[in-house]
Amino acid sequence: MSQFYITTPIYYVNAKPHLGHAYSTIVADSVARFHRVMGDETYFLTGTDEHGDKIAQAAEAAGQTPKEFVDQISGIFQKLWPKLNISNSDFIRTTQDRHIKTVQRVLQQVYDNGDIYKSEYEGLYCYGCEQFLTEKDLVDGKCPDHDKAPTVIKETNYFFRMSKYQDWLKQYILDHPDFIRPERYRNEVLSMLDMGVLDDLCISRPKTRLSWGIELPFDTDYVTYVWFDALLNYLTAIDAPEGEKFGKFWPHANHLVAKDILKPHAIFWPTMLKAAGLEPYEHLNVHGYWLVKDTKMSKSIGNVVDPLSMVDTYGVDPFRYFLMREMRFGRDASFSEDALVGRLNADLANDLGNLFSRVLSMTQKYFGGVVPDPSRKHQAEDLEILSLATRSFTTFQEHFGKFEFGEALEGLWELVRGLNKYVDSTQPWALAKAEDTERLGNVMYVMLMLMRKVALHVWPVMPDTAEKMLLQLGQGEFAPESVNLTDEADSFGRLEPGLQLAKASNLFPRVEKKKEEPKAAPKKEKKKESKKAAKAQPAEPGTIEFADFQKVDMRVGTVVSCERHPDADRLLLVKVDLGEEEPRQVVAGLAEFFTPDELMGRQVVVVANLAPRKLRGYTSQGMILAVRKDGGMELLTASGPVKGGSKVS
Ligand code: MSP
Repeated sequence: MSQFYITTPIYYVNAKPHLGHAYSTIVADSVARFHRVMGDETYFLTGTDEHGDKIAQAAEAAGQTPKEFVDQISGIFQKLWPKLNISNSDFIRTTQDRHIKTVQRVLQQVYDNGDIYKSEYEGLYCYGCEQFLTEKDLVDGKCPDHDKAPTVIKETNYFFRMSKYQDWLKQYILDHPDFIRPERYRNEVLSMLDMGVLDDLCISRPKTRLSWGIELPFDTDYVTYVWFDALLNYLTAIDAPEGEKFGKFWPHANHLVAKDILKPHAIFWPTMLKAAGLEPYEHLNVHGYWLVKDTKMSKSIGNVVDPLSMVDTYGVDPFRYFLMREMRFGRDASFSEDALVGRLNADLANDLGNLFSRVLSMTQKYFGGVVPDPSRKHQAEDLEILSLATRSFTTFQEHFGKFEFGEALEGLWELVRGLNKYVDSTQPWALAKAEDTERLGNVMYVMLMLMRKVALHVWPVMPDTAEKMLLQLGQGEFAPESVNLTDEADSFGRLEPGLQLAKASNLFPRVEKKKEEPKAAPKKEKKKESKKAAKAQPAEPGTIEFADFQKVDMRVGTVVSCERHPDADRLLLVKVDLGEEEPRQVVAGLAEFFTPDELMGRQVVVVANLAPRKLRGYTSQGMILAVRKDGGMELLTASGPVKGGSKVS
């Protein structure tokens, strides 16, 4: 039996959990469940990060002691996870004794080895980052992440000799191509390492300034810097370095983080491990950010998505499925309830739910709900669906194992859609009418036994749904350790003839899209409109008047510069010459489809009179028109070169 170890970031307890925390934890849970049904002994860790300036400040603002405060917010995380069906093996808190012991032991060891030294340091300290910054990190004299000027602090502190391990780390990353994945983040880390000599890491804070932390074992006037403390949670939970769990699981350690904490995990952590005489983790898996309307979630904008309210409205499995299916792992993705409802209705209610209820009710109708005994005389369409099934299960397993969840689920849904077509083409109702019981039995058996396998593959992402399906397929209570997905991809059968099945099932009721409340027009305008409306033909729903169309000013222009948005993966900053005094800046969601070079010099159609709006900090003065083609995107343009600014009519 092999082992697998998956961790989430341990979340700060200065705010309540939101969509981003839920996503990481759902991914880790799905991966843990996947490994369980792949037959691996799996350990899944999540928890809370409870020390440091940020927490101390949040506690003070709430009028509580740090301890009261962390207990309360950590409790909110611990209560949330069961509602999202999170099956963690352990929940770690950095204020626990077991963790304090690990941190102090590792610190002492690295200190004894001579890799921690004391030195006076004057630097620019950002309280938001809880780090010293350099001039290079600042934008207009401020920390770009917190929009605040750092404070100059001069103090004596302890430093970890991180620079000593820079060359080793670079070589290690070069020798292990999937140590950090996806590749874009590996490249980002390599370029950080190429930028110059790494600074040594300041790993202490004097108690005179901050007392909410783990005391240094070799100097009681100081507490440990929060990252040096937090990263070690991954070792505490598996009883490093002597424990049995450590021996078993550490060689298979997979960390899961978002891109915001790439540097601590890709640079601080492996060098800390090296200095402590331990092997690096196996993989660092890095995902992108969930955005809301292309904007970062933030309390001040008021666009923070509450995972609990999503689960209450749509159910836990549709929410999990949507997150896993929609985000291309490693890239940013946009969250919207409309998109969630779209997937729920299309993939879940129409495709999977419909298929399952059709198959169960036909079994009921033609075989009294009992699994028929197949003669296994297969026809071409049976062989076709069986080979699609093998392909799709194999694709699912390969992609899921590499954290490519969208691709894995798409592979599985090819089979779900294929099975719906199989029902249509084999027409069991016609076979029943013709009393061809042998053929009917074969067809129904193929569908039922594939439904069982679909349920097993769906389980990591939608455990409740899968367990319901399996129960209705006569499989009893589900026990992941009784399954090995690898053996399921290519095998026929495994569903016992003669089993009594449930009558029917409705796995996913369809959901109506939330209707946008129409904004009440100001009274005066209403009057005018009603006079006009009396004269004009009433517009069909979903159509617009010609006069409305005429309001849209579309022009052809040439792209004169183009670059990537510095922190939004999907956006390009495009300057288009429309024959005006200055080129227009358009912030276009085209980065997934075009590199900046590919857009340079192209003539594009721009909606030129859209009201300017800010997208991720940049003003967009129009919109570039494009059309989807074969999963990619084509730009709309004139059939030959035209003068910049020519009007489209
Ligand atoms: N406490 C540190 C982590 C220490 S790990 C040794 C921390 N905590 S955090 O509460 O800020 O959590 C950051 C993590 O939350 C991200 O890395 C990611 O996993 C998740 N997310 C927070 N916002 C997110 C999005 N908008 N989108 C996706 N995930 C994000 O950093």
